[in-house]
Amino acid sequence: MDRACTDCLVLAEDQDELRAFKAEVSAGLSCSPKRLHSRFFYDKAGSDLFRSITRLPEYYLTDCELEILRKSGRKIMSLVGDGQFNLVELGSGDGSKVIHLIDPVLAENRRLTYLPIDLSASALEALTSFLCRHSPNLDVRCIVAEYSPGLQWIKSHLDGPTMVLFLGSNLGNFDQAAAQAFLTEVREGLAPGDLLVIGLDLRKDIDTMVRAYNDSGGVTAEFNLNLLRRINRQLGGNFDIGNFRYYSTYNPQSGGIDSFLISLRCQSVFIRELCTTFDFEPGEPIYTEHSHKYSETEIRRLASQSGFVLEASFYDSRKYFVDSIWRVPGVTDHLPPLTDR
Ligand code: AVJ
Repeated sequence: MDRACTDCLVLAEDQDELRAFKAEVSAGLSCSPKRLHSRFFYDKAGSDLFRSITRLPEYYLTDCELEILRKSGRKIMSLVGDGQFNLVELGSGDGSKVIHLIDPVLAENRRLTYLPIDLSASALEALTSFLCRHSPNLDVRCIVAEYSPGLQWIKSHLDGPTMVLFLGSNLGNFDQAAAQAFLTEVREGLAPGDLLVIGLDLRKDIDTMVRAYNDSGGVTAEFNLNLLRRINRQLGGNFDIGNFRYYSTYNPQSGGIDSFLISLRCQSVFIRELCTTFDFEPGEPIYTEHSHKYSETEIRRLASQSGFVLEASFYDSRKYFVDSIWRVPGVTDHLPPLTDR
């Protein structure tokens, strides 16, 4: 790693992630209906496939958020108070989004420390080497960790105003209870006045949402099937990938895209590391992902239930996507308006 402008803190090891994957596969394939959490999509091959998805014409999410950050990056960053501050990003990305937030700050000669938190040391390496070339003056400290311990570390080791970025509608993979718990934890790791910038995909025309998860090139199908390939590679599974198909659909009741891998026949799969055989019936699904699509009402409720105050909303020109800005209220924000006192 380029040590000239970066510093790297390691709070999680690859073995931890392998152990978590093993536990998930064991539990998820034993229960009925079967499931495997989408957080395990992102091994090296999966991360490469996801990067290809972000460039698909059907997958509008990335382009929409880029449009927002290009157009409104300066304005978003002006919401942080004066002086030095910390810019924390949950999930590192490849830098193409965050430069639209960092560049306007550096252009005004303001100082910031950028702290991307991600489980993948190699993704963080690629990001920091890109940023060191793009913005040599930027202070980058990457943190290899799960989000919660990463945020805890920041809270106990750094001072100054903090802005947390959680972009790309990554929250969409959390179920409602998990989203609530996670956002509350983020807020508890922050101080009054600190900000959260959260990128969320909005509800829209159903065909547009469905197409984003059913690209004509089959990249999203490969992205899902890679989960079975990962089991074969890392846990000694013998999945025959050709015996499964990818299927996804919009659920108007929950308000999101649900994705599945469906067994095309009666089959048994042996996983060496688990010493277990798993049986599949024809048509039996493995639930792999929920990609939530948000309504404005839901966003307001999420913010207030996790103790934030919704401060501003930035949209792309089609209003497909929002970067919503939430602030941790200060003590005085709890007081009723003057006229009621
Ligand atoms: C990165 C979780 C936002 O749910 O849209 C892309 C992942 N899955 N295509 C999403 C994904 C299928 C993506 N997130």
